[in-house]
Amino acid sequence: MLVLITGCSSGIGLRMAVMLAKDEKQRYHVIATMRDLKRKDKLVEAAGDAYGKSLSLAVLDVCTDESVKQCINGIKDRHVDVLINNAGIGLVGPVESISIAEMKSVFETNFFGVIRMIKEVMPDMKKRRGGHIVVVSSVMGLQGVVFNDVYAASKFAMEGFCECLAVQLLKFNVTMSMIEPGPVHTEFESKMIQDVRQKEFPGADADTVNYFKNVYLPSSVDIFETLGQTPDDIVIEQGSSARFRNLTNPLYTPIVALKYADETGGLSVHAFYHMLFNLGPLMHVSMKAMQYLTCGCLRSRTVSPN
Ligand SMILES: NC(=O)c1ccc[n+]([C@@H]2O[C@H](COP(=O)([O-])OP(=O)(O)OC[C@H]3O[C@@H](n4cnc5c(N)ncnc54)[C@H](OP(=O)(O)O)[C@@H]3O)[C@@H](O)[C@H]2O)c1
Repeated sequence: MLVLITGCSSGIGLRMAVMLAKDEKQRYHVIATMRDLKRKDKLVEAAGDAYGKSLSLAVLDVCTDESVKQCINGIKDRHVDVLINNAGIGLVGPVESISIAEMKSVFETNFFGVIRMIKEVMPDMKKRRGGHIVVVSSVMGLQGVVFNDVYAASKFAMEGFCECLAVQLLKFNVTMSMIEPGPVHTEFESKMIQDVRQKEFPGADADTVNYFKNVYLPSSVDIFETLGQTPDDIVIEQGSSARFRNLTNPLYTPIVALKYADETGGLSVHAFYHMLFNLGPLMHVSMKAMQYLTCGCLRSRTVSPN
């Protein structure tokens, strides 16, 4: 089975590529793609013996039509059984300080990048009446989080797009799966922290910058530390049947459920407000308690590419 994964230079994509290439039953040949092959060393090292056998590399930038076409044309008969859309970028901060160009670049990668891949691969899957399209979305594609406005919007857009497409694709025996991780310890987190450190947030008023830097950021770091999974917690266990939605961290299920419990939306908006602005220290204690009580054993839920 040929699996193509985008964004394999680090994080979730890298681990998915390695796990599938090292599948005990040797079911997969993985084409691990990245936009710059100079970043291949970590993947090659992690793949070990699988590199050159069940794992090969290809250049692919999801933001350019030519790169996507060239990569898919380079595959024998353009035959991809499983497409894993993993490449993505984050963006946090007060909306006033983010230019429209920066916002567009998030959508260019997280939304149009995925659509570009799907448009290139899906017609052949439909013709063959078989295939699996996986999209690494986020829990923020189901529930917005303060100061992640643009990133969450890009993932919400993806969720809406895929919800529509999944129904049509069923008719062609093509499966669609969304993976919705909560926080995961990858370069994503460090890039975000580095990016925030370098920024001055022009255009945002002092109160907003203060809430972002001194209320949101510490609580975000806290959440990463307490609830953060590793890429291995998410990555792939073979054999279970494919589901459309896959919240990889079960601790987020009640948070997502909150918005459906009250159709006015008030419950989740006010709950998030209180959690951030009024209950910061209590939330810290509860998260530690939750981590202790579950011994980390509820933290992983696996996703199958089948
Ligand atoms: N980490 C989290 O907390 C978290 C939570 C929920 C969802 N996610 C989602 O998980 C996915 C993977 O993120 P990660 O956590 O593994 O972060 P990561 O370590 O930063 O990996 C992101 C990958 O995407 C690649 N990429 C970025 N722009 C690209 C482009 N235009 N074309 C091709 N590849 C590109 C990066 O490649 P370069 O090396 O070239 O930059 C990198 O390999 C993303 O879609 C992200 O939104 C992450």
